Amino acid sequence: MKIGILKETQKGEKRVSLSPNITKQLISKGFEVIIEEEAGANSSYLDTDFENAGAQIEKRGVVYKEAEILIKINPFDDEDLKLVDAGQILISQLYHKSNPKLIEAISKKGATAFSMDAIPRISRAQDMDVLSSQNNLAGYKSVILGAYEMTKIFPLMMTAAGTITPSKVLIYGVGVAGLQAIATAKRLGAVVEATDIRSETKEQAESLGAKFISVDNEGEESAGGYAKEASEDYKKKQQEAVNKSLFQADLVITTANVPGRKAPILITKEQVAQMKNGAVIIDLAAAQGGNCELSKLNEKVIVNGVKVIGTNIAPESVATNASELYAKNIFNFLVHLTNDEAKFKWDLEEEITDETLIVKNGTIRKS
Ligand code: NAI
Repeated sequence: MKIGILKETQKGEKRVSLSPNITKQLISKGFEVIIEEEAGANSSYLDTDFENAGAQIEKRGVVYKEAEILIKINPFDDEDLKLVDAGQILISQLYHKSNPKLIEAISKKGATAFSMDAIPRISRAQDMDVLSSQNNLAGYKSVILGAYEMTKIFPLMMTAAGTITPSKVLIYGVGVAGLQAIATAKRLGAVVEATDIRSETKEQAESLGAKFISVDNEGEESAGGYAKEASEDYKKKQQEAVNKSLFQADLVITTANVPGRKAPILITKEQVAQMKNGAVIIDLAAAQGGNCELSKLNEKVIVNGVKVIGTNIAPESVATNASELYAKNIFNFLVHLTNDEAKFKWDLEEEITDETLIVKNGTIRKS
């Protein structure tokens, strides 16, 4: 099977779906790898790095023509689909539930498409889970972005000129990104507090050294490891429990999401008005509408001296690591889907295959 790796064309995207290291591993499993020229340039991978790993470097048109499996990170778009032929296998994040037109267009092409964001949240699929691998880096980077925007340092520092008290960091949402944000802020020396609607996250937050702010969540039980949409009553109780910490925080990181829905508003403009002058909010849920009422995607809004930064570029900004982890997820996924001769098994009874196979030879399976 020939795998074609395409250069990402989405504005601002720096990642690539394969790394030289994983190229070698795929070749050792019996795949051939063709990479679009300069596909890894923004992730600090040179064409020669991929060539040395055994890949063939080609122009975009040749990759589309020769590859049986085409791989990207971002969804295939209309320009990509013009070059796709019937029978080709597309693998990328497709967000199929919110992208019905794209799925229809793939189907019209008679192609097959797997979606990486549809990997089920089960233990044996953890090493293929791109949402986790990328959100983990986003959690790390959110703290670094916050530290850059703050006018204070994180740790306690005793100097001859006086003692600096540690910064206070508050994290909403203790999922993959939130846990890494806790770990990173702790490592930098901050005092960290966190809250989540799922009570099972208390122990996880505490094990990383954060104080957990519990909110009575009766009736708000989670489903399959994910949160359900919070009721207005819960949001009110959450505000009461968290406000004291929010109004003292130097940095607030919000990561709260509910799959398939708009992100919940957890910090209103009235709450922001009571925050400390100079405080920073990094809203990682901005692309899903934001956890702070004032967030604007990829903008810095300053209100009453509080900087509100809505971002979704965190994984792209650490493109070398993000690409390497995405590539490893792809490797594990391909090994899972294929047999020892690197041929697809098409085991549609198997959960990971079934959940991720959105279109098969033009037939839409999931919508
Ligand atoms: P996510 O990105 O959907 O949400 C982030 C966090 O926001 C979640 O912890 C959620 O409970 C929280 N949240 C939602 N609404 C909230 C509200 N109103 N107030 C406060 N917090 C709120 O979730 P993510 O990070 O993708 O993963 C969630 C969980 O899924 C993980 O903690 C883990 O248990 C599980 N998981 C399992 C995997 C596997 O077994 N393969 C892989 C990855 C995650």
